[in-house]
Amino acid sequence: MADLSVKYLGLKLKNPVIIGSSGLTGSVAEVKHAAASGASALVLKSIFEEQILHEMNGFLDKTGKENGNSFHKGYQSVLNEREYDYEEAYAYLKDHAKEQTLGKYLSFVEEAKKSVDIPVIASINCTSAYDWHYFARRIESAGADALELNVFVLPSNTLKNSAENEKVHFDIIETVLKQVKIPVALKIGYYFSALATTAIDLSKTGISGLVLFNRPFHPDIDINTLEVNSKYLLSDPSEYSNVLRWIALLSGRVGCPLVATTGIHSAESAIKQLLAGATAVEVVSTLYKEGFGSVTTIIEGIEQWMDKKGYTTIDEFRGKMNQQSLKNPAEFERVQFMRLYSKIV
Ligand SMILES: Cc1cc2nc3c(=O)[nH]c(=O)nc-3n(C[C@H](O)[C@H](O)[C@H](O)COP(=O)(O)O)c2cc1C
Repeated sequence: MADLSVKYLGLKLKNPVIIGSSGLTGSVAEVKHAAASGASALVLKSIFEEQILHEMNGFLDKTGKENGNSFHKGYQSVLNEREYDYEEAYAYLKDHAKEQTLGKYLSFVEEAKKSVDIPVIASINCTSAYDWHYFARRIESAGADALELNVFVLPSNTLKNSAENEKVHFDIIETVLKQVKIPVALKIGYYFSALATTAIDLSKTGISGLVLFNRPFHPDIDINTLEVNSKYLLSDPSEYSNVLRWIALLSGRVGCPLVATTGIHSAESAIKQLLAGATAVEVVSTLYKEGFGSVTTIIEGIEQWMDKKGYTTIDEFRGKMNQQSLKNPAEFERVQFMRLYSKIV
């Protein structure tokens, strides 16, 4: 019988199917369900930098209202009570609010870890180096086996050039790696002006995994209500192909394991990512659509395929179809459709 185990984040995982970060790993009850699916590890719902800032503002707002319906009066009352100056009172309230939000997430990590027997990967969604050094250390103390940093910079700020956007990723990694001993993976988007070289450079910073790719919110317009919305919260099975290209191109060139995520809904698309060079896959949308049973289907499908092909371990075929192994390495770099078009017309 095939051995599906893989090494990732310094851990021996029983198979290459990891449940990705989402609402399905957002509470202890859900985490228990997720773990029962047979997945080898799970990534907890992220704590978002924006969420902390939002809750911080909400807290400041509430404090203000309770103390005379304005921020300033709220701070002023703290100031009077404690004989702090204004700046000090503001900093005190801000820290208190931040601590409350972070505290909730830390308790969640601790409880999640206690309730399952597979590795628990905590997740931080960050857009700046912020206070993550301090927070990452506390996630480690809460018992997370590893940390996935979800950094998505949409290069929409016309005042920032590509080097500045890329630097954010390196700054965050440097900040976090200085503070923690647990393995750290980085989940990135694909909006880089030089994706291949940036991904390779990022993979050599000391991270233990590079997760390709974060799937952004897909905006749409409702032509009746004239509102911006999104019909495409969940991925389509065809979306695996973009990730496949980049896993195949980067495999053998990066300094850490690659993990594929987006559009992996079947054993077949998971096997393709492994052949392209991925160490593991992270799945989410298929679980929303089909339930946790699809984890079992994917794992069993990989096992059956390995048995059929005579592979006893994943190492025997991982990367066998990466770009460096192909007779025609241009296959994964093809971006135009000349041959297809010529067949169609
Ligand atoms: C409802 C929902 C919530 C998500 N929340 C998070 C999150 O908190 N942090 C994160 O890194 N990714 C989050 N994701 C992205 C998934 O982890 C995953 O990268 C993405 O959905 C692509 O994988 P898929 O095609 O298997 O869905 C979320 C996805 C969905 C659908």
